[in-house]
Amino acid sequence: MNDNFRDPLGPARDGESVEGSPEGGAEREVGHLPVMVDEVIETLAANADSLQIDATLGGAGHAERILEASAPDGRLLGLDADGAAIARARRRLARFGDRAVLRQANFRELARVAPEAGFGAVDGLFMDLGLSSYQLGDVERGFGFRAGGSLDMRFDTSRGRPAADLLATLDARELTALFRKYGEEPFAGRISRAIVETRASTPIETAEQLAALVERSVPGKARGRRIHPATRVFQALRIAVNDELGALEAGLAASLVLLRPGGRLVVLSYHSLEDRIVKRFIATEQRGCICPPEVPICVCGRQPRLRSLGRSRTPGAAEIHSNPRSRSARLRGAERVAA
Ligand SMILES: C[S@@+](CC[C@H](N)C(=O)[O-])C[C@H]1O[C@@H](n2cnc3c(N)ncnc32)[C@H](O)[C@@H]1O
Repeated sequence: MNDNFRDPLGPARDGESVEGSPEGGAEREVGHLPVMVDEVIETLAANADSLQIDATLGGAGHAERILEASAPDGRLLGLDADGAAIARARRRLARFGDRAVLRQANFRELARVAPEAGFGAVDGLFMDLGLSSYQLGDVERGFGFRAGGSLDMRFDTSRGRPAADLLATLDARELTALFRKYGEEPFAGRISRAIVETRASTPIETAEQLAALVERSVPGKARGRRIHPATRVFQALRIAVNDELGALEAGLAASLVLLRPGGRLVVLSYHSLEDRIVKRFIATEQRGCICPPEVPICVCGRQPRLRSLGRSRTPGAAEIHSNPRSRSARLRGAERVAA
């Protein structure tokens, strides 16, 4: 089991202070603290008058700093799949006027959306993966354990299948595979069987119900751990519902089309599945050639398209102390090179 595999923005244990997870009430505007914001700005090198994309606006904390760094005339295209995030970002970024262009869209569509918005060749592309504290705190979205609303978990609530749908329709084998693949859940089989047994008499519709079911299904020793026993199951469902890894691969591929030579790709990831994809993508594009090692002379003709900006970075102790949710963050950066 990989102990680094936990979602920092994932649900906390009952009784633990849960930012943005109010008892009753819809959404408390507790805010989302942008993670490693100085390191992001430094790695992006968002210079005056540059063109930037923030593909994951969230609470727009990073976007605000990028717009400040690229003053007076730099422009930013901000995307989020979540319409509520776009509305909030619009308020926060209003003072930048038409320097901020915001669109509700999935970053898997970046290669189409960005040129349409006038951002076909940019100096920087930033992605801060996962969910925001606003989403976690909105009980209607079903991201947190104590959410009383339905188990939805979609970033974009206008499309796709909510988590409750998957729980109601996948068979035990499919659920097991999902919890293993996206959660590395060691008790995936037991949990899946419990889901199938329970739903025969009672539909599993709320986050509270699911968290309690998982807690009952795992062995006693797994219950005393620092993270809630349902953390991996919730994370796996969220990744599946939003096809987060597929979207990430498409978003990374779009960076090759959109970045100008010298332009920078900066990604903050929060668990090993995401980080592995980012790391491999940069390594492959830095190498260029994809011929098998036994082929003596390159026949694929592929040239390097990225240059890694060095080892990954993680937050310092002070940031982890003041924002515990930053604790699993890993930042990677790369620069587009001319082909
Ligand atoms: C960690 S938050 C970003 C926080 C932001 N950097 C800030 O400073 O507040 C991640 C955001 O990305 C959005 N998101 C996740 N996957 C996405 C995707 N494939 N396309 C577009 N937005 C996505 C989520 O809806 C969420 O609002």
